[in-house]
Amino acid sequence: MKPVSRFPVVTALTAVLCCLAAGLATAQSGGGAPGRQPAALEADQLFWQTFHSADYAHIQDSIEASTAAYLRDPNDAVSAAHVGWLHMWRVAERHRMQQAPASITDDIVLARKYFQKAVALAPDDARYRGFLASAILAEAQIDRDAALRQQGSEIMGQAVSDWPAFNLFTAGFVASGLPASSDGFKQALEQQWQNLEVCGHMKVDRHGNNLDVLAKNMEKAVGQSRDARACLNSAKAPHNEEGFFLNMGDMLTKSGDWQTARKVYATARLSTGYAQWPYRDVLEERIRDAESNVAVFNAEAQPGKKSANPMMIGSDFSCMACHHQ
Ligand code: HEC
Repeated sequence: MKPVSRFPVVTALTAVLCCLAAGLATAQSGGGAPGRQPAALEADQLFWQTFHSADYAHIQDSIEASTAAYLRDPNDAVSAAHVGWLHMWRVAERHRMQQAPASITDDIVLARKYFQKAVALAPDDARYRGFLASAILAEAQIDRDAALRQQGSEIMGQAVSDWPAFNLFTAGFVASGLPASSDGFKQALEQQWQNLEVCGHMKVDRHGNNLDVLAKNMEKAVGQSRDARACLNSAKAPHNEEGFFLNMGDMLTKSGDWQTARKVYATARLSTGYAQWPYRDVLEERIRDAESNVAVFNAEAQPGKKSANPMMIGSDFSCMACHHQ
């Protein structure tokens, strides 16, 4: 095919897309109010309702609403990020599906696109950068693209230094699927310890012998600072603490240190929201089965078969452990 013959196609496609976006925009234009548009605020509402109630089956409806809001105002960083998060959620909890289709990986590509945009619009929001890096790293893994992996790691490094209390977790969590003997996994586990030290403003024993002191200190240590949002439970992440300890316990179990894992899991019980946490039973089972889960979490994934008892990263609660109300 000669390159020139492609031009009309591209032009036609651009024209269609332009009119599609314009048509959607005029269908709902609310008179050019400053700030965020009413449709965006409505899409936000649907987003939180769907997300906090773990309504995975209705992700597509929420993607529609947030994408439509984005098309009306592509300079709205919050709408862009919400589209990115919905795609991330769908792919992250694909374990909920009987069998995830191969094309579920498209969600990662789209998440990257929208987080790229959110980062460009709001470069100071370190959460967007952390999720952008996660999407790039996932894509690099799918494509077995070393250069892309390097790019993802650099962006993650910046995200971690922008907001350690939030992105040390992110960086380690997304690497928790690596083989336990790899440097990447060891670093990821160390990042969880560091995250606790940042949140508790204290040294944390690597065998978990001062976790009770940490749990008592944390609220006072972070006070009203930005880190409170990353370290404690909040309206947006109602079970952040429990989810954090569940994942960290899983990573320690995978590392072989199931004794320390038990202490880390048990710290989740000290959280104020524990009695209302929907994944209490999972955690109690993890404590009981810690020793036998060492082999389970290290078993090689069988292509096309899903594990009956995956680590948090591969589970149907990899986002909901922290965000389910
Ligand atoms: C260990 C707990 C934890 C896990 C797991 C987790 N998050 Fe979060 N998430 C948080 C915390 C903490 C915040 C910060 C809240 C804030 O900024 O006030 C957050 C922020 C968010 C926000 C931003 C809300 C806003 O607009 O301010 C979204 C959306 C989100 N997470 C989606 C996800 C998705 C999707 C996943 C799964 C891929 C996920 N999270 C996994 C703890 C978690």
